[in-house]
Amino acid sequence: MKTRQQILDGFKARFGTAASVYRAPGRVNLIGEHTDYNDGFVLPAAIEFYCWAAAAPRGDGKLVIYSENFNETVEASLDSLSPLAKKYWANYPLGVAWALRRAGKPINGANIYIAGEVPLGAGLSSSAAVEVSVALALLQQSGNAENRAELAQLCQKAENEFVGARVGIMDQFISCFGRASHALLLDCRSLEHEFVKLPADVQLVICNTMVRHELASGKYNERRAECEEGVRILRSALPEVRALRDVTLSELEDHRQNITPKVFARCRHVITENGRVKRAVEALHKGDTAALGPLLEDSHRSLRDDYEVSCRELDLMVEIAGAQCGLIGARMTGGGFGGCTINLVETAAVSDFRRNVAAAYSSKTGLTPDIYVSPASEGAQRIVVEENQAAR
Ligand code: GLA
Repeated sequence: MKTRQQILDGFKARFGTAASVYRAPGRVNLIGEHTDYNDGFVLPAAIEFYCWAAAAPRGDGKLVIYSENFNETVEASLDSLSPLAKKYWANYPLGVAWALRRAGKPINGANIYIAGEVPLGAGLSSSAAVEVSVALALLQQSGNAENRAELAQLCQKAENEFVGARVGIMDQFISCFGRASHALLLDCRSLEHEFVKLPADVQLVICNTMVRHELASGKYNERRAECEEGVRILRSALPEVRALRDVTLSELEDHRQNITPKVFARCRHVITENGRVKRAVEALHKGDTAALGPLLEDSHRSLRDDYEVSCRELDLMVEIAGAQCGLIGARMTGGGFGGCTINLVETAAVSDFRRNVAAAYSSKTGLTPDIYVSPASEGAQRIVVEENQAAR
């Protein structure tokens, strides 16, 4: 993990001044996949991978943004922000400035230095981490009070309307609200949320298939449109339905003849997945860790067969995990089409699990997977002192 000092040094070398340092985490979703944009329930946790943003004010109404990951700088005037075709990474921070201004937040020009540690395109929300860290930097630099739920929504808007990916609210919300040792149950309609303590003897193990996904590439937006199609048809018989969140499985069955098999399957995934989130939270409350296993397995199966967002490598990674000692449950996590699996693993079994899964996956695919173990961590914050000093 980077240190505050490294980020300050990077900023100074580039812009020649002191700066304030912010960071926002990526996330892993335990269960509740592709439910957020259906007004449903999700259960993510923030992870110890961050996007760092150092910022200092400029007096000329411009944003000058340097990305350490891409070793590139973009410059834009706050008065004329529009998406860039060639420097795609920059659309996330520029989109955030655009969304803040459109919401009437008076933000000033700034120099911004971005360094992301969340693996890109791995389904761990590197984009939300960039958005939230930059939003926090821009707001605080301009002396605005921040409302975290609003901040998350504005970052989502930036991604929806400026970048062009119609993502839900989950990633931005957990990046703003993460809490150490806890997952967060979020009602994506009301934004009511509850922190759910994770069992002390279980680790979050994240296995990266090394197959990159691209959210804006169309498949994600296509799934979203299929859900909307389902709602449109169901509404003609059930006018009170606003989203798939409002539909029961038996109501869906009752109207099967009006819906194409594909849209039916998409709807069935969302409805059953919402049920699994609730059951997973009950299990965590009761300390019944073993009950999580079948819920994660069913979630993966449903994402693979009904929602069709898995891929060969994700299925293989889950299958390999299933053969290991100490595994409680495994499933793909995030948008899908590549990226990572989440594995709940008993602490004592973690090092064997990592070694065995990596060896088996490599021998079957020729790919060397990255395997991360991360505690659930805190959400976005300004970093005022180094962590080792803060701990003293
Ligand atoms: C991506 C999106 C989220 C959510 C997940 C799938 O991570 O950013 O809003 O829809 O996919 O659960």
